[in-house]
Amino acid sequence: MNITLCCTDTKIEPWLQGLAAALPHAHISVWQPGAPQADYAVVWAPPQQFLDEQPALRALFNIGAGVDALLKLRMPPGCQIVRIDDGGMAVQMAEYVCHAVVRHFRELDAYEGDMRAGRWGFRRPRVRSEFPVGVMGLGVLGERVARALAHFDFPVNGWSRSPKVVDGVRGFSGAEGFHDFLAASRVLVNLLPLTPDTQDIINRDTLSRLQPGGYVINVARGAHLVEEDLLALIDSGHIAGATLDVFRTEPLPVGHPFWTHPRITATPHTSARTMREESIAQITRKMAAMERGEAVAGTVDPGRGY
Ligand code: NAP
Ligand code: GLV
Repeated sequence: MNITLCCTDTKIEPWLQGLAAALPHAHISVWQPGAPQADYAVVWAPPQQFLDEQPALRALFNIGAGVDALLKLRMPPGCQIVRIDDGGMAVQMAEYVCHAVVRHFRELDAYEGDMRAGRWGFRRPRVRSEFPVGVMGLGVLGERVARALAHFDFPVNGWSRSPKVVDGVRGFSGAEGFHDFLAASRVLVNLLPLTPDTQDIINRDTLSRLQPGGYVINVARGAHLVEEDLLALIDSGHIAGATLDVFRTEPLPVGHPFWTHPRITATPHTSARTMREESIAQITRKMAAMERGEAVAGTVDPGRGY
């Protein structure tokens, strides 16, 4: 079995060593232009030249959950795309989103400001039932996040393409369920894949349909959010603020209003990081299953876009 690695913005040596340790009989190398044909590739944001030079690849293993960047490229014919499903990301996403929701709900920033100013003061406790949280995308990550939020007794709504039943979560689905889902939610969490159907989905219209005092947590992709619409709705007072981990341009450009906006908390695309050891174990398990002719979880449907 020949495996090639082509991962930009990634420290490649530990991946090479980890894969070699897990698959001692495979031939594994880091791709260079003109390299021999491989059966499988482990990739992150590869250049088009890589795909053009590897027409016989059987599968590409993406070392992240989102495949939007990969699907913009021309794929070798018949090559399957397999993404990381969970691999240690779901628990990170659950802790990040629960932290953001609880921090907002419990007004922890305001309390921190008070304490730093030497003020010992109480705020009226907020009513949990008035903070329904809507999770867009009930896939591997969204379902885990929705379940975790339900443990804190928040009312939780979930929206997916096909109907889903998740304990403690009120389900909505499809375009026909979208407006009802938004109207039932005050906090909006985005865990959709970026596809032609979901690009710009968090916009003025969507945000206006949330309950007053809405709060936005975008942990999926920057291109889901129309940034100027969010700023306008925060200015109007309809949206109380946002926690954003992903941006239309990353790194966030110098001078972008999100850097300093008092109602926006920003983090550098770090809500759920790829865990190398778990991912190597998952990828090698899936390669072995493919070699046996079995279907593997996380295989992307290019027509659907995720
Ligand atoms: P997933 O398992 O593929 O789940 C996607 C969910 O979105 C599914 O529930 C799907 O519905 C739903 N969906 C897709 N298109 C829809 C549409 N048009 N309308 C309504 N629902 C739709 O994906 P995942 O593993 O949970 O990951 C989600 C995304 O998180 C990734 O694509 C990636 O962009 C992002 N991510 C970000 C970070 C970070 O660090 N910020 C880390 C990892 C992932 P069905 O259930 O009906 O198919
Ligand atoms: C990170 O954003 C991922 O898609 O895994």
